[in-house]
This record gives sequence, structure tokens and C-alpha cells, in this order.
Amino acid sequence: MTLILWAGIGYLLGAIPFGIVITRALGLGDLRLIGSGNIGATNVLRTGNKPAAAATLLLDGGKGAIAVLLARWLAGPDAALIAGAAAFLGHLFPIWLGFQGGKGVATFIGTLLALDWKLGLAACGIWLVTALVSRMSSLSALIAAALTPFVALWLDGARMAAVAGFMAMLIFIRHRANIGRILAGTEPKIGKKT
Ligand code: G3P
Repeated sequence: MTLILWAGIGYLLGAIPFGIVITRALGLGDLRLIGSGNIGATNVLRTGNKPAAAATLLLDGGKGAIAVLLARWLAGPDAALIAGAAAFLGHLFPIWLGFQGGKGVATFIGTLLALDWKLGLAACGIWLVTALVSRMSSLSALIAAALTPFVALWLDGARMAAVAGFMAMLIFIRHRANIGRILAGTEPKIGKKT
């Protein structure tokens, strides 16, 4: 019962589409009609408003972290894992947007940072190094998502690796169009519209 409750709380937190909320509040236009159409920080950056992109990144990551920390504080580690995974699913399938949400990268990293800061930091580091080399947000996310389950297995064991692997699989599915553009050599670099 408690775990179902924390799944619900995590989902509702994760379902808050901060990219949409922030761009609407600042009158930056309809994010779904800009760039890739995604609701995440990378696409908010394509509006040209860096603070809005930074706020989206922090809040999309923060909602995953808050779900985990709240659940762990009030109900223990199992609830924390469930709440984190549910927040991630909430970002991908938000009820407020007809279940058409984002790609989950910031929420993935925020959730991991709260579940195990060393694992979250490793995911951040892999993203950052790939981004510095490739200048592609999507490729950085894909490489971080692919490697993180192995880091999770090493640092935290099979259960965390399974949760990280499940999230990584959904990140890959959500990046289908990006993967096609990367292979075609047409994926935009960070901050560029095309
Ligand atoms: O975090 C999302 C990023 O990996 C790709 O975003 O807008 O370039 O499809 P976008």
C-alpha cells in the first residue's frame, strides 16, 4: 500500500512539465512547436533563453530527486526506488500532456543523484565528457544512459542496475528520432536550432 502511494506521489511530481510551464510563463512560445518539439532543457535552450533552460534542467532533475528524498525520509529505501522510477515515468508520460512527455534525461540524472550520489555523479560525468567532445545533448544522454546501468551494478548491485537499465531503455526509445539524425549527421549541436 505504502509503495503504491509513493509510486503515485513520484508520478505526479515527475509529471510536472517544467519546460512547458517556464516557457509559457516567460512568453517564449509553444515549446512543442520549437526545435525538436521536446519539453526538456535542451529544447528550451533553442528559444535562446539560457536561464529558462537552466531552470528547466534543475527543476526536471529536482523533481526526481525530491521524489526520492521525500520517500526515503518518510518511508525508507524501497519507497525511494519506486518513487524515483515513478517520477521518471511521470516525466515521460505526464497525464497533463495526454501522456506525451519528454525524453527523461534530466529526471534520470536527478533521480540517480538522490538514490546514490556517486551513481548520479558518474552519469553526469559521462554526459559532460561526451557533450564536451560531441557538442550533442542527445548523444551524451544516450552514452550516459547506456553506461550507467553497468556503473550501478558495480556500485549498488543488481536491483539498482535493473532500475537504471529500465530507465535507460526508455531513454533510448524516446531518442529514436535523435538516433536517426545522429546516424545521418544532421543532429543539431547544443544551443543550435538546426
Ligand atoms: O535531454 C534531451 C536531449 O537528449 C535531446 O533533446 O531536444 O535535442 O531532442 P532534443
